[in-house]
Amino acid sequence: MSAPSPRVAPSILSADLARLPAELAIVDPLRDWVHCDVMDNHFVPNLTFGPMVVEAARRLTSAPLDVHLMIEKPWTTLEAFRRAGADTVIVHLEACPQPAEVLRRIRGSGARAGLAIKPGTPYASAAPLLPELDQLLVMTVEPGFGGQAFMPEMLDKVRAAAADRAAHGLAFAIEVDGGIHDETARAARAAGADVFVAGHAIFRAPEPIKALAALRAAVGA
Ligand code: DX5
Ligand code: ZN
Repeated sequence: MSAPSPRVAPSILSADLARLPAELAIVDPLRDWVHCDVMDNHFVPNLTFGPMVVEAARRLTSAPLDVHLMIEKPWTTLEAFRRAGADTVIVHLEACPQPAEVLRRIRGSGARAGLAIKPGTPYASAAPLLPELDQLLVMTVEPGFGGQAFMPEMLDKVRAAAADRAAHGLAFAIEVDGGIHDETARAARAAGADVFVAGHAIFRAPEPIKALAALRAAVGA
């Protein structure tokens, strides 16, 4: 089975939420997905937004919404995020004592099921779950904040996932999130990643649409 084609997902964590309609409109011509970072101040030391803002984003763009839950007990809010319009729901392996069950519930709700691993979590912990997921998110920074520096050593996990995907005929997407800009995205693409989340590199650029175009060109999207 062939690897998915590259996709770029601007992260609204770095957008100006007071101008969310304008921010989404700016990137709309070139985005593939829109990435929504949900944080609870427990799983990560930051607090962002919940289903209400995802639902607002849903009404502002037709892009598939890639919802990254950096929260404890994510299974308790799956239905709320689905109702809000999430197309992909990503939970953290570190937050789920029974990850296979949670991934099955996400798929059962009709969403794509994503599993994220923090920098300190070895790839081997996620590998047995690959048949249960549609997307593996390899965090390339410590989750919690935008604008941090990319951790190049995380690309070993991307390479391992890409090799397992090919070896077992699987079709899950490999997503990288954190510190993604043209150069780091190119390196991640070479390692086998196909979904590129970028916050600061797009929304904090002087011309976000140009930055998005450059990022697309860097990964061949
Ligand atoms: C960090 C979030 C990221 C964040 C990336 O915990 O998961 O999605 O928006 O931001 P940048 O691209 O600025 O590193
Ligand atoms: Zn994220």
